[in-house]
Amino acid sequence: MQRVQLQCAAMLSIDPETLSRKERYELLIQAVTPRPIGFISTVSGEGRTNIAPYSFFNAVAAEPMTLLFCPVTGRDGRDKDSLRNAYPPKQPQDSAAVEFSGQGGRGISGGTGCFVANIVLNHHAQAVADAGQDWETSEFEALGLEAAPSRCVAAPRLSGAPAAFECETLEIVRLGDGAAGTGNIVIGKVVHIWLDPEHFDAKGRLINGVLPALARLGGNLYCQVQAPFSTPISKLPSKQ
Ligand SMILES: Cc1cc2nc3c(=O)[nH]c(=O)nc-3n(C[C@H](O)[C@H](O)[C@H](O)COP(=O)(O)O)c2cc1C
Repeated sequence: MQRVQLQCAAMLSIDPETLSRKERYELLIQAVTPRPIGFISTVSGEGRTNIAPYSFFNAVAAEPMTLLFCPVTGRDGRDKDSLRNAYPPKQPQDSAAVEFSGQGGRGISGGTGCFVANIVLNHHAQAVADAGQDWETSEFEALGLEAAPSRCVAAPRLSGAPAAFECETLEIVRLGDGAAGTGNIVIGKVVHIWLDPEHFDAKGRLINGVLPALARLGGNLYCQVQAPFSTPISKLPSKQ
């Protein structure tokens, strides 16, 4: 078997601390591609629905079945709505600010402790791009998106999504000191799944081999799975 030679000499070698936060962000979104998009729907403790796209989004594990999305703290130091809504509800004994989560769990309770991760297709691109702005009203209403009731969580799901994962918030990890631009990870345990039978069978298997899901590249660029290919797996050399 021919081995690939690693050509290190010509590589650019960069200490991330020498890059500005903007440069680090640009590098991440242009190099870590394509990123799946979670169109995350939530509801606040007061009952206001919300849906926003997150491309720092992925599956975590099958046991427990978990997903995550990563809302960056806003420029004004405020948590994004999706993050606030994913926090657990305020308990009667809670003071104003309540710690949540085992790891670095600084945050305010008062959400609904859940979210739905909706997977999106090409025809959702405009709604995804538009929902990525800071709306004063619910994006469902503002963008004419249809919300469907979930079975196990308070957050609604997006009607017409090929797959929607109802999640209970398992853990929220605050990566920084909460200042503007610092990262957060919301991990959710999947408690119910909705699948469009046009794409999946009752066991969750894809019918047509590939889901043409929308994904994000850098800037305003998106892509869709269009040219999948399979590759044979080389045999491991036999162990002595
Ligand atoms: C395709 C797309 C992907 C995005 N991914 C993220 C992300 O991973 N993390 C993030 O903090 N913001 C991301 N944004 C920006 C948020 O969607 C935007 O800040 C939105 O207003 C957040 O809404 P919310 O406050 O209702 O949660 C993305 C925007 C778009 C259009």
